[in-house]
Amino acid sequence: KVRIFSGMQPTSGGLHLGNYVGAMLNWVEIQNTILSGDNNQQQQHDILFSIVDLHSLTNKAVTPERLRANTLDVAIEYISCGIDPTKVILFNQSQVSAHAELQWILSCHTAIGRLENMVQYKEKSKKNTSSLVQNTYGLLAYPILMAADILLYKASHVPVGEDQTQHVELTRKIAYAFNSHHKVDFFTLPQIVNCTETKRIMSLTDASTKMSKSDPSENSRINLTDSDKIITNKIMKAATDSTVGVSYDPENRANISNLLSIASAATGAPITDIAHEFKDQYHSKFKEYLAQQLCKKITPIRDQIEYHRANPKQVKEYLQLGSQRANQLAQNNLKEIKDLIGLYY
Ligand code: TYM
Repeated sequence: KVRIFSGMQPTSGGLHLGNYVGAMLNWVEIQNTILSGDNNQQQQHDILFSIVDLHSLTNKAVTPERLRANTLDVAIEYISCGIDPTKVILFNQSQVSAHAELQWILSCHTAIGRLENMVQYKEKSKKNTSSLVQNTYGLLAYPILMAADILLYKASHVPVGEDQTQHVELTRKIAYAFNSHHKVDFFTLPQIVNCTETKRIMSLTDASTKMSKSDPSENSRINLTDSDKIITNKIMKAATDSTVGVSYDPENRANISNLLSIASAATGAPITDIAHEFKDQYHSKFKEYLAQQLCKKITPIRDQIEYHRANPKQVKEYLQLGSQRANQLAQNNLKEIKDLIGLYY
């Protein structure tokens, strides 16, 4: 049975273009491919998309009010991007307490050294002088909770952006350690799925770092809620280089290559085609085109977001329904796990 699981943090309001291109486009494509199959095929699949609010607790900048509001907002954004909550299981993680329970069980199969080796942990624990992301046990254990998210549903496929690859690999190692210890073939080792050509979107102001919610510069990212004017401004201000013309060369021309990746994601055209079309043009000409294409892509999503924000009742109901369905699956699996490891009930 194919089971898809993925999630996004509701850390700060709204998804950015990195989330959209790196993950959301894949989610929608996977959902639509599966749903276009016959009934039989559809029933063979479970798709779970979660808003991972427990993970956001590692960031101290998020107030309780913001966390609550952001969680609903991310659900609204999923739906506005094309996730169909009547076909997939859409829920927020903290509504299914089995995630935290399984995290503890998996902790007992995870060597600390592996956690300390995670790139994200190294980066975030270094930054702890800002006191927003403190070097807590939660920050270290973060990937175990992510493994629990995935393994709780015995997910076979995890559509994420490239920056999450190491976490999914750790999930496989934890699953393998659990299986070996108990001499069973219980957990499926999950695979990463990437459908789009672009797996990593970089900051608009400095393409040596990824586009992220935690970058203090608003100009570094495009949010799905940005107006056309703001999108255009940010693209026109985006960093380029002093080389004439447009070409795709991520190593030597990281900034312009990142813009080409974004253009490809926005239009669906291959990067090489776009690079060829603008090869002798001014950067500003290419940027005008990119801004136009991005606005075209984002406007209908933004309209949907605004609609649902004004009428959130239905989205709240979807979340409730989703958590009921997720709980059913989770409880069945957790019971099997408890049985297997000898917890008495
Ligand atoms: P998060 O919330 O940081 O990001 C959500 C998704 O967006 C992708 N992404 C990017 N892709 C390309 N370029 C970028 N600049 C970029 N920024 C973000 C991420 O790869 C991710 O797919 N730990 C996860 C959330 C999580 C999860 C899970 C994911 C928790 N449990 C279980 C999958 C399965 C995270 O922080 O993603």
